[in-house]
Amino acid sequence: MKPLRKAVFPVAGLGTRFLPATKAVAKEMLPVVDKPLIQYAVEEARAAGIEQFCMVTGRGKTALVEHFDIAFELEATLRDRDKQEALALLEGTQVEPGSMVTVRQQVPLGLGHAIWCARAFVGDDPFAILLPDDLVLSDTPCLTQLAEAYRETGGNVVAVTEVAREHTHRYGILKTGADDGRMVEVLGLVEKPPPHLAPSTLSVIGRYVLMPEVIEELARMDRGAGGEVQLTDGMARLIGRQPFHGLRYEGRRFDCGDKAGYLEAQIAFALKHPDLGPTVRAFLRRYLDA
Ligand code: UTP
Repeated sequence: MKPLRKAVFPVAGLGTRFLPATKAVAKEMLPVVDKPLIQYAVEEARAAGIEQFCMVTGRGKTALVEHFDIAFELEATLRDRDKQEALALLEGTQVEPGSMVTVRQQVPLGLGHAIWCARAFVGDDPFAILLPDDLVLSDTPCLTQLAEAYRETGGNVVAVTEVAREHTHRYGILKTGADDGRMVEVLGLVEKPPPHLAPSTLSVIGRYVLMPEVIEELARMDRGAGGEVQLTDGMARLIGRQPFHGLRYEGRRFDCGDKAGYLEAQIAFALKHPDLGPTVRAFLRRYLDA
């Protein structure tokens, strides 16, 4: 079994649910407390042993790449002024030289198409996908949990969570097989089924470990739900040919591509923050009591 060393970060979407904030700023640059969403995703990947990073970007997304570059003037000024604490805050934005590449998705034809754009980076290796707008608050980082499940099964593993039946039309939904309560065998995958047609209420979140063969399936460029090339459809064609499991991860997912989910993430992460937590708890109480 090949080790998991590569991760793809699709960040070429339009972020229409977050307009006007995302008109000139990429959705993945929106901060939760003090860090942009993309930095949470890159840190999570690094913690899981990922050494090679590929961002699938589009027009107007250069800030995402610059965030992981050296800010020479800023760092020199902070050093001159002996601002060690501020300098330390930049550490999480530094990656090994040459370890981060970008590819361009010129037209946002769907998540499946974005992943196919990273085909040269993926090559013949297993790879992770992290959607930065899905943020997971957990004791063990979500991708670390998935990487462990990959080592156990040697095949495709996606992070899954229960959703309300009336919300199945928003997600990729599993048809489930053998289930030990933690790991569930995937017998089928359907993108955004209406509640009455959903084969279960177990949905895929934005964390995946996939085998490189998914790229060949995406290359068919079949249009699925919403007229887009769907990753779910490409993954579905691997079922039966390769091991495919869903992992009920430990943790709480926030859909930061959605305004309510993003606000909830701000509150949850702020309450957990060592300096801010007590202050935020106190002012939330004041608002709720008013
Ligand atoms: P979303 O479904 O959240 O789409 O994409 P979006 O365009 O970002 O946002 P809305 O729905 O218009 O508000 C899920 C992930 O897939 C990426 C997005 O950047 C996001 O990380 N994506 C989506 C692409 O990279 N390319 C695409 O063509 C579509």
